[in-house]
Order: sequence, then C-alpha cells, then structure tokens
Amino acid sequence: MQKFVIQGGRRLEGEVLVQGAKNSALPILAASLLCDGESVLDNCPRLSDVYAACRILSGLGCRCTLRGHTVQVQAQGMHSSVIPMQLMREMRSSIIFLGAVLGRMGRCELGFPGGCELGPRPIDLHLQALQRMGVRILEDNGVLQCSTPAGLHGAHIHLQFPSVGATENILLAAVLAKGETIVTNAAREPEIIDLASYLRGCGARITGDGSSTLCIQGVKQLTGCTYRIMPDRIAAATWMAAAAVTGGEIALQQVNPADLVSMTDVFEQMRCRICPFREGLYFHSAKCPKAIRSIRTMPYPGFPTDAQAIVMAVLCKAKGTSLMEETIFENRFRHVDALVKMGADIQVAGRAAVIKGVRSMHGAAVQATDLRGGAAMIVAGLGAAGETTVEQIAHIDRGYDSPETVLRGLGAEIRRI
Ligand code: EPZ
Repeated sequence: MQKFVIQGGRRLEGEVLVQGAKNSALPILAASLLCDGESVLDNCPRLSDVYAACRILSGLGCRCTLRGHTVQVQAQGMHSSVIPMQLMREMRSSIIFLGAVLGRMGRCELGFPGGCELGPRPIDLHLQALQRMGVRILEDNGVLQCSTPAGLHGAHIHLQFPSVGATENILLAAVLAKGETIVTNAAREPEIIDLASYLRGCGARITGDGSSTLCIQGVKQLTGCTYRIMPDRIAAATWMAAAAVTGGEIALQQVNPADLVSMTDVFEQMRCRICPFREGLYFHSAKCPKAIRSIRTMPYPGFPTDAQAIVMAVLCKAKGTSLMEETIFENRFRHVDALVKMGADIQVAGRAAVIKGVRSMHGAAVQATDLRGGAAMIVAGLGAAGETTVEQIAHIDRGYDSPETVLRGLGAEIRRI
C-alpha cells in the first residue's frame, strides 16, 4: 500500500493551478450518457473516482476515453441499464448514475451504495423524489430494480434536506422526462450550477440552478457538448490550509473566488489575508492564525462540510480555542485521533469538536480515515516538526489529482512511497 512521507516545517510559497472539481466531474460524467452525441469534458481531474465513473459508463455500453485532463464520452452505443454491484461499492457517489440511466433507458438495476466512512449514507430523498416522477422501485436483498411503467414525468418535489446528490439525481431524471419538474429546497452548491450549465449546453431547459427552486422543462433529446469542468473549491481550500499552517504565501490560479467566500471568510477570521484577482486569489497566511470562536458546517452557501477537517488541521496550532460543529454528516470527526497523535488538543462530543490551539505539533505515523480526513493529516504534517507518514492514501487519491506534485511545487517536502 502506498503512503506519503512528509518532512514538516517548510514554508509554502508559489503558484497552484487548481484541479477540476471532483464533485462536478462525477455528476457531469453521469449526465453525458443522456446525450445522443459526443461530449468532450475538459479540466477533468485524474482521480480514482473519475476512473470508476468511466468504468461504469463503459459497462453501460458508452465509449469513454480519458486523455490527459479531457474525457470524451460517446453514449450512442449504450445498451445496458445495469450498474454492477462491484462498481457501486467502489464509489458511493455512483448513485447519481441512477437518475441518468432512468432518464435514458427508463429502467435501472443497481446495488445499494454502501455506507461510507462518514456514516450511513441513506438515499431515501433520492428514491422518494424519483418515485414522484413515476419510478417504481423494488428492493431485492440489496439490489434496487427501478422501472418507469408509464414513463418518467415531471413532478413538484420538495426536498426535506437540500441534498446535493438528490438534487443532481432529480435534475438527471427530469431533463428528458415528460413535462415540468419543480424542485423546492434544492441544493445550491456551485457544482449544481456546473451540472446544469453542462446540460443546458446539451440542449436541456433548466432555470433556478444555484437557488433553492429548480425548474426543468423536459425535452426530447440532448446532443452532447464540449464543456470545461469548474475548479475544485475544496482542493483550493486544502492548499490555502497548507499555506496557513506553514506561514506561507501562495497564488491560486483558475479558481472562482465567489465560490470560496464561506471558506476565505474563515481564513480571514484567522487573520490570513486574501486578495482575489480575476480567476484566482493570493493567499497570505497570518504570522500565527487566530482561533475561531465557532464554525458550523452548513449546506451551501454556508461553510462546507468537506472543508471541516482541513480547517481543523489549521486551528490545531491557532492562538486560542475554537469550536467546530459538523451538522451535515454523523461521523465526520474520524481524523481527530490522528491530529491528537500529532500533538493537537481536541475534545469531541457528538457533532461538536473543541480545539485548543497548541504551540507546535510533531510528526507521527497516521492512517487516512476518509478523503478529507486524510487531506487534513497531510496539512497537519506540513505544519508539524519532524516526519509524518500518512498511510491508506487511496482515500486521498479519490479526490486529489497528485497532491504530492502540487505541494512539492510549493516547496513542501513530501514523497509518495
Ligand atoms: C455530496 O455528497 C458530495 N459528494 C460530498 O463530498 C459532500 O460532503 C456532500 O455532498 C455535502 O456537500 C459528491 O458530490 C460526489 P448530501 P452527497 O446528499 O450528495 C443526508 C467529498 O469529500 N442524506 O448533500 O452524498 C446524508 O446522510 C464528498 O468530496 C439523507 O439523509 O451529500 C448527509 O447526512 C464527501 N438522505 C446529508 O444528507 C438522502 O437521500 C448530506 O448529504 C441523501 C442524503
């Protein structure tokens, strides 16, 4: 198994070209199978989750080729509506293929996406919404048999929680359905806007993306198009956190500062300085970041749950005591033990964590528990004295496109072994 070996204490400086967004590339790859023509997706990050999505597309009969950071998908030859259990297990977010396969084929068979490291990952909101659109769902020991006896039709759907995945699944099922679909309390994440923009490029009729009320008019056919995936907000926050723990100064290229406000605001509260420019921003860390009285993860435009572990790694050495509340996932503090092993002072009680800033952290041998928890360990290792090894880095490769190359480019001493 591979691991990262980090020598901490080096000040990070330089420029980063931020990768394409994993959480936009995956739903857009699923959406490409709805199209009769070819789609060319640029700025696609090279991640194990992207490779898994390409394998699902190929398994369904689409032609999917990945060259550099460009994926070409030709869905004309699609002949299957079965997503193999193995592939469902590989990637929890493969549930977003359900809406697309139903939209294209009118039926779909797939395994229940397993729970994941963040706690149970229910899909009740997805299934309730699809049933309102005419989908009949039979569950037969872990396999979902979905069919649309009278075809997919539009519906008015209110989401009990602004679920990102459920909003995406409804979008994917609605673009070719008969009639109008209105979604209230929809997720407002920028990745939803990216997915809707790609679908509009293919001929879909969607309005309201980025707001809580989505409106989709079903059309007969989608053509496919060339589309550039948006920058990854969470990767951007990760590099800012790496600069913050090392007293560094970096420039992020190809980010949309407007998408990062809830995170840059937190860094500014820590006394870091952010100077946005067109398609990028300069990040100057504070001499000694200041603790933050309280941060609560919330659906967009609130502080994103995916940045919680990463920012916690910075608060470990901040001046003062911080409180972090994780309101989105049940079990998203699994990285805390590793940070404590590196000298952090963190108390967890349920969905709250109290972080008392310490003067310094020391390297240790730790294991990534999940994607963003693993990223937090790298950040903590960069700011710790001595050597840190991070194992189980397959978690990290799901969401970061060669992170060691990016960090070495900023002067970090990190190796993949
Ligand atoms: C997406 O997951 C992201 N994944 C996650 O990023 C991100 O953390 C999450 O949105 C929240 O922003 C992708 O986009 C591939 P949700 P998703 O549906 O769609 C509950 C990362 O690190 N829920 O908004 O699964 C659920 O249990 C990953 O890049 C239901 O109860 O998130 C959770 O508590 C991790 N029933 C909350 O809602 C449902 O039917 C948020 O889930 C669906 C969700």
